[in-house]
Parts: sequence; structure tokens; C-alpha cells
Amino acid sequence: MLQDERGRLVRREWAAPRVARELGINPDAEVDAQRLAAEQGLAPAVLEYDRTRRFMVMPFVDGEPLEADWNTRPARRRAMHELISRLRSIDPSPLPTLDVAARLLELHDRLERHAPERARSYRHELDWCSERMALIGGPVTALVHGDLTPDNVLVRADGSLCLIDWEYAHRGHGDEDLAGLALATRGLDEWSLAPEEFDVRVRARGLLDDLWRELAAALASDARPGQTRPMPTLKVIDRDGHEHDVPARAGVKIMETLRELDYGIAAICGGMCSCATCHVYVDPAWSGKIPAPMSDERELLQELAHHKDGSRLSCQIDMTEELDGLRVTIAPDE
Ligand code: FES
Repeated sequence: MLQDERGRLVRREWAAPRVARELGINPDAEVDAQRLAAEQGLAPAVLEYDRTRRFMVMPFVDGEPLEADWNTRPARRRAMHELISRLRSIDPSPLPTLDVAARLLELHDRLERHAPERARSYRHELDWCSERMALIGGPVTALVHGDLTPDNVLVRADGSLCLIDWEYAHRGHGDEDLAGLALATRGLDEWSLAPEEFDVRVRARGLLDDLWRELAAALASDARPGQTRPMPTLKVIDRDGHEHDVPARAGVKIMETLRELDYGIAAICGGMCSCATCHVYVDPAWSGKIPAPMSDERELLQELAHHKDGSRLSCQIDMTEELDGLRVTIAPDE
């Protein structure tokens, strides 16, 4: 998170869509959760949220990070207890529910794609947790912060607490937040309900964190130069006329590459050939090297105000090794 003390505002940016998808990040849910908590004074208000450009702006919170030994301070324990109770009393219905057992399997599958050997080492504990989480089930009623550790709690001057970084926020069991805290500290016994059930939640929560960290590391090493096969290059001219050389994965639509760029496209329909927000102009030198548009693409293009020779929907063009050097210009917004 970037903190701009001069403007007293904080701008938070999310990872590029492909990385966010792989990690299971859902910015919409995070923003909804933060808004719910902000209504109760438990989080900074959301002043602006731009889902296309993947950032949000919130007021700067004048506070100190929660002390590492907060659990030994009676006043902080009381404040944290109060915070948890208030989180549990917020109606979380606008948020998606997280099924922890399913999420464990999902994360593991993703890790398997990027780092199969590392994924295998989790198999045993994953089965243990998934089985027991599925047996536990239980009421799903509370707003869950998703990473409620001391790093994400600010103490304001008046001693009140403010929650930041609402990553992986969801609707779930209230003990999931306590499980996060239990991993970071000790002595939460008086807040837990059934000790055995709570222990399973703590282990599942720890496993979620571990799998997520492994996956993030595997994605980062995938992206490290020299560790992957060289990718073909897309030459992209942005709306200000600047040209950029962008690595583009072969075998996926070029829209997927363009929408990860700050100066790229929106691709609102996700490639369904219905929004035209992925409109580009293909350089004439390349137009004969890519397959001609199908009728639905042609029809959509003809409706556009900025349609001209070379107009294409980038969600309909597959990147290939042969298209290394393909030059496209991002069309103006309609
Ligand atoms: S992404 Fe919507 S038409 Fe291409």
C-alpha cells in the first residue's frame, strides 16, 4: 500500500489481473468488505474505486501499527476483543462466501500448475484439513477480514483500532479471523468456541497462508527473466502515441496481454465478443498474417465510431510465435 502523507490519502493498487486471478484475489469483494467495515468506523472509507484501472483511494489513517506484543496488554486485548465482536455483528450479505475446504483445493491445484513438486509436499496436510473442514461446516454469518494479523491493524491516537488491507475478505465463520490471530500470537483461548473445531480452523488458515505464499513465489519466479522460455513480443502503441515492447504469451488471446497493461484495454466482457472495449488497430504490415475476423466480430466492429482499416477485437486474435513483433495500436475509448 502506498501512503501519501502530503495529500493525506492512500492509493492502493491491485496486482495485474492474471496474477490476481491465480492468487484468488477479488478486488470487488475487498472493496465491499471495507465499505461495510468503514460504516462502523472499523476501516478507512473508500473514496474512489476504479475496477478497470485496479486501484482505490482512501483517507490516510493517522495511527501506529498494532504492537507485536499486543496480546500481553490488557487495553489492547480489550480493544481487539471489541473489534472482533463488532466484525461478527456486521451483516456480511453483500459479500461472497468462502468455502475454506474448496479454497484449499483450489489453491493447491493452482500451485500444482506452477510448482508441481512444491504442491506435492502439501498433499497430506491438505487432505487432513479439507476432510475436517468439510465435516465442520457450521454457520456462515460473519464478515471476515481474511488477513487479520497485527500488521493490518492500526491503533489511532484515541486507542481505537482501524483495519487496513482487506485482502481475501469474505463472508465466513467468525472464528476464521481468530484463527489468523492465533497464528500470529498465543492465548486466544477465551475467544474460541469449541477447542477442537477452532484448532482445525487454525490449521486450515495456516495452510491457506502457506499455499498462497508458495503460489505467489512460483508466479514471481515464472515472471523472472531467464527462467522461462523467451516470449514473443507485442509492439503496443498506447493512446498517447507511445510505443512499448510487451512480452506476450503464445497460445492466449492478445487481449489477455493488453488488459494487464496500465495503458491497456478494459476488455469488460472478458473475450465474449460483445463489448468492443478491446478494440485495436493492427498495423497494415501484419494484417495479412492473422486470420480474418468472423462475422460476429465484423458486425461489432462496424458499429464502432472509431472503426477504420485494421480495426480488430484483440480478444479474437491468438498470439503465436509467428506473430512475434506484431504491432497494434489501442483504439480510442468509444
Ligand atoms: S473483450 Fe469484449 S469484445 Fe473483446
